[in-house]
Amino acid sequence: MQRSVAAMVLLLAVVIVAACADNSIDTRVEPQSGSSLTFPVELTDARIQAGESLYADNCSACHGPVNGPTVLDSAPIHSDAGHTWHHPDRLLRQWILDKPPLATLMPAFRGTLSDEQVMQVLAYIKSQWLPEIQTRQNEVSVQYEVQVVEFGTK
Ligand code: HEC
Repeated sequence: MQRSVAAMVLLLAVVIVAACADNSIDTRVEPQSGSSLTFPVELTDARIQAGESLYADNCSACHGPVNGPTVLDSAPIHSDAGHTWHHPDRLLRQWILDKPPLATLMPAFRGTLSDEQVMQVLAYIKSQWLPEIQTRQNEVSVQYEVQVVEFGTK
């Protein structure tokens, strides 16, 4: 009897560990056809152009133009003076799709914007940064790819 209780406890522990592992953030992405989901986001003229109108339609009502001023006080500006560029591209993509952590007002765009459209919005935002800010943020994005994506989070 005691043995089967021990076995049950062990089984439960395994199930709990497995469930926790399942909840870990999965940063891998499944590319849709026609979209190149490689990071850092590649800036092409076509992407930047498409991103500009997507940004105007979906983001500027709260965030204002990339270079400010913001419209909604709690929506940060995405310019050099903000902190968007402190984050790697892959995380920014995830936040646009599923909201940033602890978001209160920012909507999730999964289902509204396609994979490629998120890349376009990001390309547009990034294109508005000074070249040195672009370079620094690209380094952050590259490092994130190496540390989190290649080696995993465990
Ligand atoms: C309804 C208003 C609203 C809309 C629309 C909106 N946001 Fe946000 N966003 C916010 C707010 C507010 C925050 C701060 C977190 C919070 O409290 O939700 C935020 C946070 C963010 C952040 C994280 C902070 C940062 O800059 O690093 C990013 C990135 C972002 N938004 C990008 C976008 C993009 C891109 C779009 C359009 C596709 C968009 N947002 C549309 C309100 C909005």
